[in-house]
Amino acid sequence: MSFITSLTRMWLTRNVKPFTFTNEYDRDLPYEACENLGLYVHIPFCKSICGFCPYCKVRYSKELCDKYIDSLIKEIHLVGSGHAEKKMATSLYFGGGTPALASDRVKEIIDALKEHFIITEGVGLELHPDNVTVDVLQKLKDAGVTKISIGIQSFSGKYQSILGRKSIDASAIKAALDAVPFETVSMDFIFALPGQTFEDLKADIDKAFSLGANHVAIYPFIDFTFTESPVRAMPKKRKRELLDAITRYCLDKGYYRSSIWTFSSSPDAKYSSMTRDNFIGFGCSATSLFKEQFKINTFDISSYCDRIDTGNLATSLTIRFTGRQRMVYWLFWTAYSTRVKADDFERFFGLPLKRMYGFELWLAKLLGFVTEKDGLYEMTLKGAFYYHYYENFYTLSYIDKMWGIMRKEAFPEHIEL
Ligand SMILES: C[S@@+](CC[C@H](N)C(=O)[O-])C[C@H]1O[C@@H](n2cnc3c(N)ncnc32)[C@H](O)[C@@H]1O
Ligand code: SF4
Repeated sequence: MSFITSLTRMWLTRNVKPFTFTNEYDRDLPYEACENLGLYVHIPFCKSICGFCPYCKVRYSKELCDKYIDSLIKEIHLVGSGHAEKKMATSLYFGGGTPALASDRVKEIIDALKEHFIITEGVGLELHPDNVTVDVLQKLKDAGVTKISIGIQSFSGKYQSILGRKSIDASAIKAALDAVPFETVSMDFIFALPGQTFEDLKADIDKAFSLGANHVAIYPFIDFTFTESPVRAMPKKRKRELLDAITRYCLDKGYYRSSIWTFSSSPDAKYSSMTRDNFIGFGCSATSLFKEQFKINTFDISSYCDRIDTGNLATSLTIRFTGRQRMVYWLFWTAYSTRVKADDFERFFGLPLKRMYGFELWLAKLLGFVTEKDGLYEMTLKGAFYYHYYENFYTLSYIDKMWGIMRKEAFPEHIEL
C-alpha cells in the first residue's frame, strides 16, 4: 500500500525525497502574506468515545474542557498579537471531538479570533446528535455560528449498533432544527459498513433532507490501524458500486456535488474546512498550512496547555515543502472539490498548470478521469471513484502512520512519510 503512495509521490514531486517532518518550536506563524486563509479550532472532548474514531479526543470533563479553552484563547492571542493589522479569513470551523460540548464558551473563542481576523464566510461547528437541542442551538447561533454539522452516521439502529452508537431521536432533531434555523445544516453519514446497501443509504439521505438538512457528507468508513473497532470496511468492488449509486441518486435529485463525498440541496449550502489554500489551526492536533510549510500541533492535551502557558506555540512537527511537494498538496486538496481551475493554480504558484503537470492532465483525460473546458478540469464519476480510492491509500499510509505516532508521543523528533 505505502509502495503505491511512495511511487506516486516520487513521480508527482519529481523527487525521491520523502515528506520529512521535524520537531520545531514556534512563537510566530507566517500567515501575513496568505490569501484565501481559513481558520480551524479543535475541541477534543466527547461524552463517550467511539471505537472506530481516529480523531484526537478524550472523555469530556468540565474542568479539563475549561482549562483547555483558557489555553486555546491564549494561543489565539499569541498567534494574532504578532500581527499589527487584522487579517482577512474566509471561514472558521470548529471540529473535534464534539465542540458543541463547549457551547457556553464558543462566543469567547469567536470574540478572541475576531480581535485578530475578519471572518467573511461564516462560522461552522460540529455537533453530536445529543447536542441538537433548542438550548444549545440558540447558544451557538447567538455566539455567531452560521453552519452546523451533525454526526448522524446512520438513522438505522442496525448500523448505529455496528458502530457502537445509540439510536437517533429524529423527531427531537427536527423540532430543534425547526426552532433554530442555520444557513447550512449538514449531516454526516458513514458508508461501506458491513452489509450496507444502496437502499439503506438512500433512506438516510432522504431522511436527512426531510429533517431540515440542506447538505450531507457521506464518508467512506476507514479502518484505522490504531482504533479498536471490530468493524471491517467493505470490499473495493461493492464500495465502488455503492459510491456510484449514491452519486447518481443525488445528482438525479438535483443535488449539487460540492466535494467527493458531499451533496447539497442548494449551491450556497457549504460545509468544508479542507479546500482552503492556507489555514491556521488552533488547539491540540490542529494543522496549519502556509505557502511553504505545513505544521501539526501536539496531540497531548496537557503538553498543549503547558506549551501555551509558557508563551510558546504547541507545534509538534513541521514540514518545509519543496515547490513540487506544495503543488501536489494543493492539487490533491483542490481536487477534493471535484474541480480544479488552471487559473487558480497559476495565481497561487505563478506558473501555468499545463507546463507543470501537462502530461498527467493529458493522461487523466485519456483515462476518462477528468474532462476539460476552458481550463476548468472536472472529475468524472470514474475519476471521483479513483480519487476516493487513492485518498483511502493516502489516509492509511500517511495519516494513519502519523496520527498513530502522535497519539503516543507529544513531540516526536522526526517523521518521514
Ligand atoms: C468529529 S465527528 C462529528 C461530531 C461528533 N463528534 C459526532 O461524532 O457526532 C466527525 C465525523 O467523522 C466521521 N468519522 C469518524 N471516524 C470515521 C472513520 N473511521 N471512517 C470514516 N468516517 C469517520 C464521522 O462521520 C463523524 O461524524
Ligand atoms: S465519532 Fe464523534 S463522538 Fe465519536 S469519538 Fe469521534 S469525535 Fe467523539
